[in-house]
Amino acid sequence: MEIIRSVGNLADYVAKAKADHRSIGFVPTMGALHDGHISLVERAVRENDLAMVSVFVNPTQFNNPTDLATYPRKEEDDFRMLAEAGVKAVFAPTVDEMYPRGTAREHEYKLGSAAEVMEGKFRPGHFQGVAQVVHRLFELVRPDRAYFGEKDFQQIAVIRNMVESEHVDVEIVPCPIKRAADGLALSSRNALLSEDQRRRAPGIYEALSASVEYSRDHGVKATRDMVVDRINAIPEMEVEYFEIVDGRTLLPVEEWEESDFVVGCITVYNGCVRLIDNIRYR
Ligand code: PAJ
Repeated sequence: MEIIRSVGNLADYVAKAKADHRSIGFVPTMGALHDGHISLVERAVRENDLAMVSVFVNPTQFNNPTDLATYPRKEEDDFRMLAEAGVKAVFAPTVDEMYPRGTAREHEYKLGSAAEVMEGKFRPGHFQGVAQVVHRLFELVRPDRAYFGEKDFQQIAVIRNMVESEHVDVEIVPCPIKRAADGLALSSRNALLSEDQRRRAPGIYEALSASVEYSRDHGVKATRDMVVDRINAIPEMEVEYFEIVDGRTLLPVEEWEESDFVVGCITVYNGCVRLIDNIRYR
């Protein structure tokens, strides 16, 4: 597996692959890899001639400096896991390499209403930063397909809007959420949980799963309240938001019948660690 650090070397590598008419499957990540990331990577390996992964903790999508400073980093382990999964090249640049003119945003992306709600509301600027780095990576890697996890359900909708408004020619492939045996959605941030917090963390998915059953004979509001109350009753846990939305527009629904694609998106503070998850109702 090639480890590429510079934009110039990446451009050369990609030009060679294109000249050889090899299809490129791309998985952008921020490292501290786990089986959730690897499930995307394995799919990219299967479905393309060449799988490429980026490992870059993108400062422009963090609106909280402590979150950026404490974000877990373990590059050596990441590279070993990627090589084992059959990745041909990993792009792991420095911040200066990615942003030679500095990290100030020079362009406002058109991301639609999907970027205004939920994460967009609670993390101002977050999706502009995600769009900025993913657009830059797409320009460099020029993938045929790019793989994103449904754990970050809203991120996929926002990336689709960016791809459309910037006219990028790439297929966005959504991939299902990978969970630990106890139901907790795998996340790099799980490494930051204390033993007690980790033990209680499956309570999020337990509440979401129970709410699918509950939703069969309760309305949207009652279902929403049930999830929030149940999770807030767990020590150290506090729901930041739980929205039941149309899976395409990401706008809230009030009745189940309003849409044939309904998803509940949640963010919970478990101590200081911000965890995100979602579940499909219809
Ligand atoms: P990161 O959080 O490292 O996630 C990289 C990719 O892995 C994302 O598409 C995410 O949805 C997916 N992923 C994470 N946990 C998963 C799980 N348990 N199951 C399935 N997929 C999972 O998302 C980002 O990085 C960044 O915003 C990025 C797109 C790289 C831009 O900086």
